[in-house]
Order: sequence, then C-alpha cells, then structure tokens
Amino acid sequence: MRKGKFKVEDLKVKLIKDTFYNEAQTKKELCDFIMKTDRLSMWTECRKFEDNFAKHQGAKNCSMFTSGSTANLALIQSLINLKRLEKGDTVAFSAVTWSTNVMPMLQLGLNIHPVDVEVDTLNSSAELFEKALEENPSIKAFFITNVLGFCSDIDKIADICKSRGIILIEDNCESLGTIYKGKKLGSYGLAGTFSFYVGHHMSTIEGGALCTDDAELDTMVKMVRSHGMDRNLDEDKKIKVREKFKLDDFYSRYTFYTLGYNLRPNEINGFLGNNQLQYIDEIFRIRNENFMKFISAVNKNDIVPIRYNHIDFVSNFAFPVICKNKTILNKYIKVFENAGIEIRPVVSGNMMNQIFIKDYVGSKKFDLPGAQKIHEDGFYFGNNPDMTKKEINIVIKAFKDASK
Ligand SMILES: Cc1ncc(COP(=O)(O)O)c(C=O)c1O
Repeated sequence: MRKGKFKVEDLKVKLIKDTFYNEAQTKKELCDFIMKTDRLSMWTECRKFEDNFAKHQGAKNCSMFTSGSTANLALIQSLINLKRLEKGDTVAFSAVTWSTNVMPMLQLGLNIHPVDVEVDTLNSSAELFEKALEENPSIKAFFITNVLGFCSDIDKIADICKSRGIILIEDNCESLGTIYKGKKLGSYGLAGTFSFYVGHHMSTIEGGALCTDDAELDTMVKMVRSHGMDRNLDEDKKIKVREKFKLDDFYSRYTFYTLGYNLRPNEINGFLGNNQLQYIDEIFRIRNENFMKFISAVNKNDIVPIRYNHIDFVSNFAFPVICKNKTILNKYIKVFENAGIEIRPVVSGNMMNQIFIKDYVGSKKFDLPGAQKIHEDGFYFGNNPDMTKKEINIVIKAFKDASK
C-alpha cells in the first residue's frame, strides 16, 4: 500500500485551496453578519438564498439543505412519502458517484442497479442506460450523477425516461454551472441536487440544495427537511395542508404529517450562499479557463482525452486524468506527487467496488468496464478559481515531465 509521503504544508497545488471565493472579504462580511443578525437558525437568509439559487438555476422551487448528501436523502424519502417510489423498487444510479448518492436508496429499502459510464466523459450515456434497462427492465427511477462538470447525452436519457415512465433525478453536486444543449445540468430531471461543500463550485462551508419545478415534490421536500412538519412551508401551502387534514391552527403547528428528519441549514449557510452566489459566474469562468489550459497540456498518447465539445459550457472543479494503462498511471502519480500536486482517485472510482455495497448486492456481478477503467487508471487534481499562474504552471510542467 502506498504511504502518504507529503505533509499538507509541503503541497504546492492543493485539492481545495480556500474556503471561499474572495476569502478575506467574505470572512469579514460573515463576522459582521453574525454580529448584527438577531437569528441564526434557518430564516430570511436561507429563504433569500433559495429564491436566488432557484433563479440562478432556472427552477421554480429550491430548498436549501445542510449538505448535498442530505438533499439526496430528502429527495429519496420524499419520493417514497409521495408513493412515487415504493420499498423494493429498483433505482438505477451512475456507477461513478459518491456514497451518499447510493446510500439513501439502500437505507430506505430500495434496490439499486448501477449504470456504467463512458471513460471519455466519465458519465452515463443513453446507450449504457439502455443496456442497464435490458439487464433490469423493472428500473423505476434513474438517479444519475453528473460527474465533474461533464455529461454525455442526458437529453436522450431524459427522453428514454419519459417514454418509459421512469423518474429521472439528477445528483448535480459536481456539475453546478455546466450547460448542455442550452440547459443547465440539474434541470433535466424531476429534481436536481447540489452541494456547497467547501471543495465544490461554491462553498457555504457545508451545504446543499434541491431544485424542482414540481410543486407537490417541493412541498414534501420541505416537510421532510423539517421533522415532517409544515412549519417551513409558504402560508398558502401551509393552509392547504392544514385544510386537507382538517387541523386547527393550534395543533397543526405540532403535527407530523410525514416521515422526516432535521436537515435544515442555518443562517450562516444562507448568508454565505447569498454572498458567494454574487461571484458564481466569475468562479465558473475562471475554472473553465483553467480547465482549457489543463486540457491543452494533456498528452493524448498517455491519457484518454476528455470529450467535452458537445457541452456548451464546462463547469469543472477538479481535472480528471484517465491514463491509458497502469504503467502510465504510476508514472503520472509519481511525477505529480513529486511536484507537490495533491491528487486522489476520480470521485471514488467504481462504486460497486466499495465495501458497504457488497452487503446489498451479494455476489451479483455487474459489467462496468468504463467505471472500472476510471477506478483503476484514473486520478484527479483540483481546479480552483484562485489558482495562481505559478500553480497552473506547476501542473502544466507535471503533464510535460510525466509524458517524457
Ligand atoms: C456526486 C456527489 N453527490 C453527493 C455528494 C455529497 O455532497 P456533500 O459533501 O455536500 O454531502 C458529493 C460530494 O462530494 C458528490 O460528489
């Protein structure tokens, strides 16, 4: 097993550079906000962020969460509460994703079916989804992950889902800001989830969101977020729910309508969301410019070129390097680490290789060559909006040195 050779302080190019964009100013404004505000639990800043983020994403409704993971959990719980999914149903997911994309499905009694990904986009395609549907025609929903700001032909996947009555939901925690065929990723399905973890496009330290145009789902998501109560619904929606169950004003305030959790963000998250959203286009632009610089440093003899020309705008926060074979990978790892560049596996590789999942799929074998290739021969490094010219040049030089 490889040992960590470098101390964090020796790293020259970190995976995550700063907590916030325009860090010093943001921290100062955060301190001022904390000193002035009367309330730090979820309130007007979170609400304002939800309005701002919905507008940014082009969605009718947004709910802010404590993380991308809890947005995912609330989404699956809400679909079950609404009986759009039932225990025992099978939900497909992208084989390259994060644990808390898959875990809520297992935790809530759903079966899972992995969909392979293309090596050159890192994402599931319509063709690969069709293959999964042949393997398992009973798939009821597809919780697709848009990996690292890329996609394949998600429009075609949406068409397949529509024609077959399959629910398409998007884990867009890694692709905020990417535009494909004139539409933002995260808006191709019934709902899209987002992460504002410090390493992602925009940071509220920890945080997440769920956007949907479906009013019924939005109401349910907000109840699931808040103990299964109606407390955080808009007045008109609150009245509707109370009338439906013939509740008076006194008891309705402490009525638990449906299965829920406490997944509410706080005003610090909300404030930071509003603050960072003002820089979001600049963040996207710089990361896109960095992405283009890294792309042009890639030696195509060593590395599988990323296919991105079908995407209108790539919003990428970490640059994937998928080597043609293991020998090349080992050479690149050595050169990148010696250059002080912090690297890691691509997302978490092939999810079906993870230890926790074995208990749920038993000895069933899935044919996932794309995800496995990314697992075995890939790594990524950070693409931060505050990278200096010097840091970018360290990366470009590493690409050059590794390909010698
Ligand atoms: C695809 C995907 N989904 C969900 C998450 C979870 O987001 P969070 O860290 O905000 O819980 C991540 C986090 O890295 C992710 O990459």
